[in-house]
Amino acid sequence: MNQSATTLHPAQGPLRGHLQIPGDKSISHRSIMLSSVCHGTSRVSGFLVAGDTLSTVGVFRALGVEIDVQGTDVTVHGRGPEALRPSAAPLDCGNSGTTMRLVTGMLTGLALEATLIGDESLSARPMKRISAPLGRFGGLVHTTDGRAPLRIDPSSAFTGGHHDQKIASAQVKSSLLLAALLSGQPMTLTEPHASRDHTEHMLRALGVPVVSSAHYSGAPTSGPARVELPAWSAPLQARDIQVPADISSAAFLAVAAALVPGSDLILPGVGVAPTRAGLLTILKRAGAKLTISNKRRTGGGEEVADLHLGHGPLRAFEINAPDVPTLVDEIPVLALLAATAQGRSTFKDIGELRVKECDRLARTAHLLRQCGIDVEEGDDWMAIEGRGQRPLKAFEGFDAQHDHRMAAAAIIAALVADGPCSAVGLDALRISYPGFGDDLERLQRGQG
Ligand code: S3P
Repeated sequence: MNQSATTLHPAQGPLRGHLQIPGDKSISHRSIMLSSVCHGTSRVSGFLVAGDTLSTVGVFRALGVEIDVQGTDVTVHGRGPEALRPSAAPLDCGNSGTTMRLVTGMLTGLALEATLIGDESLSARPMKRISAPLGRFGGLVHTTDGRAPLRIDPSSAFTGGHHDQKIASAQVKSSLLLAALLSGQPMTLTEPHASRDHTEHMLRALGVPVVSSAHYSGAPTSGPARVELPAWSAPLQARDIQVPADISSAAFLAVAAALVPGSDLILPGVGVAPTRAGLLTILKRAGAKLTISNKRRTGGGEEVADLHLGHGPLRAFEINAPDVPTLVDEIPVLALLAATAQGRSTFKDIGELRVKECDRLARTAHLLRQCGIDVEEGDDWMAIEGRGQRPLKAFEGFDAQHDHRMAAAAIIAALVADGPCSAVGLDALRISYPGFGDDLERLQRGQG
């Protein structure tokens, strides 16, 4: 990957306008995965065309599924799970943990022999969190010292059962649910707090009666969450899927609007599932200007809304354990919100950040320190002394370590720095938001 430094400039003006954020990454992945095992043609609109989701497309094409990508419209010609055929070459998941963990669950449920590989970052990430529970229920996944490459053993015989997850993780939960679905076995799961429930929504839209505590109450439970999938053997029939705008991508521009005086930004059709929308809770907790309007549901049951954001004086805030799964990918940019708020903010129970595309807890603390901010960092927490509305110190040579969220966070930090900054590894933006730089520039010209 390109290691040349990119110069980043302080904001040339407020962020103004109306911007369509690209499609949700988690839902885009799942749209390909589930449509590939349906019978019939599924049309996906608003698909995220980016590195991670194209890894999922590549994997299912390698398994024999015909998939046409025309801009953000994708057509998947499903012929049921029995039509998937083993791939001679390893399945390349690129940088995408969601692809590797969910596809492993699917292929284990189908007992389809496969080898899954990933790039350097993905090959360093923990995979025992899926191989161990899948193995408990008869799914045989051989890891390489707990990491990728992974090999799915065709003698797998997934039995389903009950799993008590120790961490709130939608990837682990979805891996088990998909293994159970495709092996026709029942599965129940509990997790300490509800993680994102896009798999459950999509399964319900396909007629599979998944029951979850997050769904009952319409809001994430603050205690343990439970999901029940009955044994399901009826063929899944193709259905069109609309992908909402990605709140994790929206987060960077939303925080930028909160930070840069005079900003006035409208982001329509953003996915605001209660298990995903912790960003909005924190923006409000910090006193940012935010109006959420026109809440509605897509045909697939996903909640979306229009967000109207602006600048305002910010106060310190706390992020606690139940908040974390609802904003886990937004923590680097929320740390910038904390850095520009008045007072000391604390982020608790964020140990999962250490095993993302890079050690995001350490990288975020490093970025803030390069910006002149006092940060205290523990194994699974961070405390940030905000400097109010004073600009951040310009930084040089920040290394985003090829992590897309760290790359976007560095660009936002530079907007409120006291001079030009520089960073390496920003090419990682192609993973989730290839047009990020252009969109940000357009908004600064008031042309969004
Ligand atoms: C995702 C779940 C989260 C998130 C990741 C996408 C998903 O990971 O960080 O970017 O699509 O299920 P964990 O489930 O490991 O927390």
